[in-house]
Amino acid sequence: MAEPNLQEIHDSLFSLAIRAGAMITSANPHLNPIDTKKNSSDLVTETDKAVEDMVSSSLKSKYPDYTFLGEETSTSGALTPAPTFIVDPIDGTTNFVHAHPYISISMAFAHKLKPLVGIVYNPFTQQLYHAIHGKGAYLTAPSIPTSHPPLPGKGESNVEPVVSAYTRTKLPLKSPAPPLAGLTQALVAVEWGNERSGNNWETKTRTFSSLAGDASTDGGMVHSLRSLGSAALNCCAVARGDLDAYWEGGCWAWDVGAGWVIVEEAGGKVVGGNEGEWEPRVDGRQYLVVRGSEGRKGQEEMIKEFWGKVRGRLEYE
Ligand code: IPD
Repeated sequence: MAEPNLQEIHDSLFSLAIRAGAMITSANPHLNPIDTKKNSSDLVTETDKAVEDMVSSSLKSKYPDYTFLGEETSTSGALTPAPTFIVDPIDGTTNFVHAHPYISISMAFAHKLKPLVGIVYNPFTQQLYHAIHGKGAYLTAPSIPTSHPPLPGKGESNVEPVVSAYTRTKLPLKSPAPPLAGLTQALVAVEWGNERSGNNWETKTRTFSSLAGDASTDGGMVHSLRSLGSAALNCCAVARGDLDAYWEGGCWAWDVGAGWVIVEEAGGKVVGGNEGEWEPRVDGRQYLVVRGSEGRKGQEEMIKEFWGKVRGRLEYE
């Protein structure tokens, strides 16, 4: 089999993301039939299924020799070394169901177990994150007006700020990225997930408390914790540099595969959610993602400090 053409794959996924985005924004979440999967917090809608159907048929016809791993159709979340598309049609289905616009379509291409291309698109904000291994990570988004809208009564009352063009910006947004200064200076994303009892639930809830508590509780005293609802967008926020870290157990390769490439290409690092797991698998289901910093200053220290606050051990099959 010929070596995969990563640029061509990137461009195909980029176009598919735009098509998928139009399907997502034109669907009315309030009229969308909702099914539950494992339990009442594990949701899927007709739009998730329709988007995955469109993406998988398009990729299968263009790349018939490549494997397809999709959230709504794959029976196992296991990744093999074969060239593989890894797709989550709507990452943040719970947000979508509530019409909360923090969602994305997340598409990765992996080969020999390594994610090499990543596309994450939030069609509500039109922010599209994209990366190819070795070529940097970018945000393509509507240009942001640089001045405030004109005030009414100042001669331009009918002028509306118009977003007329798209800008492609290299990540991280602040370059060089400031050094990481440890947990006490950090804004951290965590997610509750849909498993609400047992060892992993205990580990998560105890770790949330240990990250946020002050020194008298042996806590990390982070600036704060955020729980935003899309693993893929959390990774992109780490790649941008506006989250310092993201820790989660329970999500799948399709939630993080694309964000993984984007984070690494922006100078960040993905390790396991449990102490000492420096080389995690994409389908390992528990992750710690830390942003880049100039010369990687403070990155390894931050990872070790974070692991020191994990209370228990995340374990997934
Ligand atoms: C979920 C989101 C959420 C994470 C869950 C995922 P889905 O993906 O990424 O942030 O906490 O673990 O399952 O189900 O909305 O595609």
